[in-house]
Amino acid sequence: MKEIQPGIFSQNDNLYTKNQVPGQQVYGESLQDFEGDEYRAWHANRSKVAAAVKNGIDLGVEQSDDVLYLGAASGTTVSHFSDLLVDGFVFGVEYSETVGRDLVKLADSRGNIAPIIGDARKPEDYSDLVPEVEVVFQDISQRDQPEIFIKNAEKFLKDDGIGLIAVKAQSISSSRDPEDVFDEAVEKLEERFEVLDRTRLEPYEKDHLFLKLKKR
Ligand SMILES: C[S@@+](CC[C@H](N)C(=O)[O-])C[C@H]1O[C@@H](n2cnc3c(N)ncnc32)[C@H](O)[C@@H]1O
Repeated sequence: MKEIQPGIFSQNDNLYTKNQVPGQQVYGESLQDFEGDEYRAWHANRSKVAAAVKNGIDLGVEQSDDVLYLGAASGTTVSHFSDLLVDGFVFGVEYSETVGRDLVKLADSRGNIAPIIGDARKPEDYSDLVPEVEVVFQDISQRDQPEIFIKNAEKFLKDDGIGLIAVKAQSISSSRDPEDVFDEAVEKLEERFEVLDRTRLEPYEKDHLFLKLKKR
């Protein structure tokens, strides 16, 4: 088991995070013991952040960071942030109450997740709950993905913080060439951010672009 980024481990080409709740599986992932600790497999075809790491993105996330996570769903990827943020916190925003129920349950079993059932288009609704953070990550399949990200980063991201976003071409336009859709999204984001790194997420996710950003 080799640590390849803070709190992210690799063994036999698979990614892992150290399980902060030993014995707990969140979404049926496999558990692996190594030198007295338990690790949870982090599958690149279940999580766009894992796919980005597999494709060479250095996330730039430190284990003491606070992370605002937009599009938390039931908490699959949130749970891995929870593992790796040993001295940090993840604020997970999800607008579906149905999947959000699992997120709330997950948060009950871990000490560093704040589940927020809310609309990421309205960051003012949760501004009392979220502090300034070192990282904003967004995985929201909506037409206005770049605008939602910009709004939240402007409100919550520290000036020297890191922005991470998975852009899904199909959600913006199902008829246009994904590369054109990505160019347009990047152009919008570049008005406020510098692109530090980028990768497509194939073979794990089709027609997704993952960007690492910093405020200008
Ligand atoms: C692709 S899924 C996220 C998967 C999750 N990131 C993971 O890896 O476990 C996108 C999620 O974004 C949520 N979503 C869509 N629009 C939203 C909005 N405006 N505010 C908050 N959540 C939203 C959807 O309900 C859905 O659960």
